[in-house]
Amino acid sequence: MKAVTFQEPYVLKYGEVADPVVREPGDVVVRVAVAAVCGSDLHVYRGHETGLDVGTVMGHEFVGKVVERGSAASALEIGSLVVSPFTTSCGECFYCRRELTARCTQGALFGWVEGGVGLHGAQAELVRVPLAASTLGRVPDGLDAESALLAGDVLATGFYCAESGGVESGSVVAVLGCGPVGIMAIVGARELGADVIYAIDGVAERLELAREFGAVPVNLSDEPVATLIDATEGRGVDVVLEAVGSPQASRLALDLVRPGGTIAAVGVHTEEHFAFSPVEAYDKNLTYRAGRCPVRPRLERMLDLIASGRYDFGKIISHRMPLSEGVRAYEIFDQKLDGCTKVVLAG
Ligand SMILES: NC(=O)c1ccc[n+]([C@@H]2O[C@H](COP(=O)([O-])OP(=O)(O)OC[C@H]3O[C@@H](n4cnc5c(N)ncnc54)[C@H](O)[C@@H]3O)[C@@H](O)[C@H]2O)c1
Ligand SMILES: [Zn+2]
Ligand SMILES: [Zn+2]
Repeated sequence: MKAVTFQEPYVLKYGEVADPVVREPGDVVVRVAVAAVCGSDLHVYRGHETGLDVGTVMGHEFVGKVVERGSAASALEIGSLVVSPFTTSCGECFYCRRELTARCTQGALFGWVEGGVGLHGAQAELVRVPLAASTLGRVPDGLDAESALLAGDVLATGFYCAESGGVESGSVVAVLGCGPVGIMAIVGARELGADVIYAIDGVAERLELAREFGAVPVNLSDEPVATLIDATEGRGVDVVLEAVGSPQASRLALDLVRPGGTIAAVGVHTEEHFAFSPVEAYDKNLTYRAGRCPVRPRLERMLDLIASGRYDFGKIISHRMPLSEGVRAYEIFDQKLDGCTKVVLAG
């Protein structure tokens, strides 16, 4: 089959790789209808996350049809349209029982093979899904593949970020980063009843998107700290939703949050130390929450939210390209060329 594979930082390859097959009874093979490129793929692409084997198939956001299944995956009918969380989960271990499926003891992240161990990704014609019955969600009738695609990562992750931040009715929120995850965090904060949502980024098109999703845009170059401190009677915001993953963003989050407030970080960090000190955290009575989104327990709710039509989620997809142009898609997304916010690969 054809796939987009990792070679080295900034070098991917579109070409022929071996077809995935059912290896374990719980596996299915899915024919990918649509796959997206995510900000998380960029950490690997840019060489900030290392360890990936050369030849690993990239990508962890996909929707497709089940074409082959093992004996323990009979609940999934051949031909059914499914959406996957970006990690697999068993549904039974200590963590899965506590809805922390992102830390499933048997789980794996799509698009991560290291030392020969792990799971190939979905920017390909076919993808193997282990633990399929407890991992995959069925796309409800009436939703097309592209609409359902956002449920498997960015929408669930943005929502999780808002939940982790304890956003509630009346909250004053700052969202850092207006990429797809940040925009979805705006949606999550709105759904949880936030009063005002400030959205911070340095890219004009993305700030405009944030405004369209109901946030007050603040450009990074317009002194966001002074602006938000002024807007909150000198206190700072109740909750910061950090969807960037850099020391600069962590620092900004601390500067924006009020004493007693919460920073919820879903941005993937690769630095070794916090950008603020324990003293600064203490002096703000800070709550800091972080981590990978447990998508599985949120999947049906996210599909319902998409189906409700309350938001025009399609707006965040700026580019639709064939899989054969996957390498170019990364360049466009990485460099934010041509107003790129999210790329979907199909066919
Ligand atoms: N925790 C999880 O489960 C999970 C899931 C998906 C993605 N992520 C992570 O979430 C982050 C965002 O993903 P995305 O797809 O939206 O990525 P993206 O790269 O499209 O968006 C990041 C945005 O942050 C902006 N930015 C950069 N520095 C900033 C700063 N100091 N302050 C404010 N904004 C700044 C950029 O201009 C960009 O618009 C990434 O780190 C990604 O890996 C985490
Ligand atoms: Zn993703
Ligand atoms: Zn588990």
